[in-house]
Amino acid sequence: MLKIENLSCSVFENGREIEILKDINLTFQDKKLYVITGPNGSGKSTLVKLIMGIGSLKQGKIFLDDKDISNYSIDSRAREGISFAFQKPVTFKGIKVGKLLDIASEKNNTISNSCEYLSKVGLCARNYKDRYMDESLSGGELKRIELAMALSRPAKVYIFDEPEAGIDLWSFDKLSSLFSGIKETTIIVSHQKEILKLADEIILLSNGKVEKVGKGSEILPLLENFSCKKLRGENGQD
Ligand SMILES: Nc1ncnc2c1ncn2[C@@H]1O[C@H](COP(=O)(O)OP(=O)(O)OP(=O)(O)O)[C@@H](O)[C@H]1O
Ligand SMILES: [Mg+2]
Repeated sequence: MLKIENLSCSVFENGREIEILKDINLTFQDKKLYVITGPNGSGKSTLVKLIMGIGSLKQGKIFLDDKDISNYSIDSRAREGISFAFQKPVTFKGIKVGKLLDIASEKNNTISNSCEYLSKVGLCARNYKDRYMDESLSGGELKRIELAMALSRPAKVYIFDEPEAGIDLWSFDKLSSLFSGIKETTIIVSHQKEILKLADEIILLSNGKVEKVGKGSEILPLLENFSCKKLRGENGQD
């Protein structure tokens, strides 16, 4: 179980403190699929990056299976069993896709192992394992390889930040079934209805706060009717 208690996060801009996340309390039960949604800028990426240890907490604690991991480095959290795929895939100059898959999966993969991971995201290992993980790959290819790396790591908690971004519509169904096939705790940040429908629970973030947590049947109608102004915490009438 992953638990977040009283988590807050701020950044300083021109000497002014801007609070990005405010007193977040969440529990992610084992083997369930959660989707975090909310308007652009509501704090979704900041929240999942903090779970992975990217960025610093102002206040609060993060527990994985009752172990306090709040001060753990990114590497230690990965070793404890958190696997993460960024919203904007990270590129590595001079490192090949096959090598990165070896690092992520912590083994020397044969072509058929690499194929197993890459084919899950619709890529053929023979074509990609010797490509460099750099800007020569298209946006969608980078995103797919990032997903394959996150999936190849044996983990207790898989986190994907907007995995659908840049993935073509033809592959979307495959992506959805990929996520519903994950047996471990899965947290997906998404704006997509098809992904939202996969969730055991949806977490709605708004203006750095948890607005609501609930099942799709409860949250999806709310999303359709929720005014953007309210979501952004702005005053004024619709
Ligand atoms: N280092 C920083 N300095 C200043 N502002 C920041 C910093 N990091 C994040 N923010 C701001 O915090 C807010 C939340 O950012 P975040 O990336 O978490 O949003 P998001 O919900 O993931 O949005 P999106 O749906 O567009 O991906 C944004 O307004 C962003 O500009
Ligand atoms: Mg984001």
